[in-house]
Amino acid sequence: MTNKDDQELNLSIVADEIIRSRRIVAFTGAGVSTESGIPDFRSPGGIWSRFDPWDFTMDRFLSNESSRRKQWQILREGGFFGVVEPNPAHFALARLEELGKLDCVITQNIDNLHQKAGNTPDRVLELHGNMQWIVCLDCTKRYKTDAIVEQLKSTGMDVPQCEDCGGILKPDVVFFGESLPYNILNASVEYSKSCDLFIAIGSSLAVTPAAYMPSYALESGAKLVIINIGETPLDSRANVLIQGKAGLVMSRIIEKVSQRLCV
Ligand code: APR
Ligand code: ZN
Repeated sequence: MTNKDDQELNLSIVADEIIRSRRIVAFTGAGVSTESGIPDFRSPGGIWSRFDPWDFTMDRFLSNESSRRKQWQILREGGFFGVVEPNPAHFALARLEELGKLDCVITQNIDNLHQKAGNTPDRVLELHGNMQWIVCLDCTKRYKTDAIVEQLKSTGMDVPQCEDCGGILKPDVVFFGESLPYNILNASVEYSKSCDLFIAIGSSLAVTPAAYMPSYALESGAKLVIINIGETPLDSRANVLIQGKAGLVMSRIIEKVSQRLCV
C-alpha cells in the first residue's frame, strides 16, 4: 500500500471510530492554529526558537519591568494581538459538536479560535487561559485585550499599566510556574477518564499536566488518535497516528463522518 492509501485508510478508521463512539474528547495544541497564522512553540521557527521560555515565568514577570517588556513582546510577536480567524481544523471540530459527536475540546491554546469557529464556549476547556482578557494583579480590574492593545499603540508604551491603580497588568493566561485553573483542569481530567475516543491534534504533548490527558484516556480504556506533523511521546501508544496537517486531515475526517451519518 502507498502512503496515500495508508492515510486514506486511517482517515476511514478514525471516521468509523467517531461514528461508533459515545463519548468523544478533542485535545488541541498550537498546531491547530498555525494555519491561522499563529506560530506554535516547538516547531522550527516557533516561539521558543526566538524567545527563552524561562523569560515567560510568573516570577520573572513579577520581578522586573524589563522581563515584563519581553513578555509583552512575546505576546505581540506570537500573533496574539492581531485579528486571527479560525481555520478548517477549528471548523471541523465545531462541525463535530454540531453532529453531536463531541463532548468537549480540551485546549492548551489561548487564542479563542475554537469558540470563534462555533464550538460552545462551555464545551471549550482552556487549560492555559484565554488572551481575550487582561487583568490587574493589584486591583483585579479586567480589561478586554483590544483596549490594552489600543492603549499600547496610542501611548507608544510597551508595558501597559492599570488605568485605575497603576498596577501591573497581566494577560489572563497561565505563565510557567503558575497553576492551571483548578475547575478547568478537574473537568479535563474527568472528561479524559470517561471518554471512549480521545483525539489529540496539533500538540507535541510535551507540557504537563495538560499532556497527561491522553494517558488518562488510554488508562481508562479509550482509543487514542493522534493527528500531528511532528512526533509525540505517545505516538507508539496511539490506536491511529496520522502525521499530516490538521486542517486538511480534520476536514477529510469530517467529510467521511458526514457521509456515514448521511448528513
Ligand atoms: N497541523 C498539524 N500539526 C501541526 C501543524 C499543523 N498545521 N502545525 C504544527 N503542528 C505540530 C508541530 O509539529 C508540533 O508537534 O503541532 C505541534 C505543536 O507543538 P508545540 O509547539 O509544543 O505546542 P503545544 O503542544 O500546544 O505546547 C503546549 O507549551 O509552551 C507551552 O503554553 C505553551 O500551550 C503551550 C504548551
Ligand atoms: Zn489596578
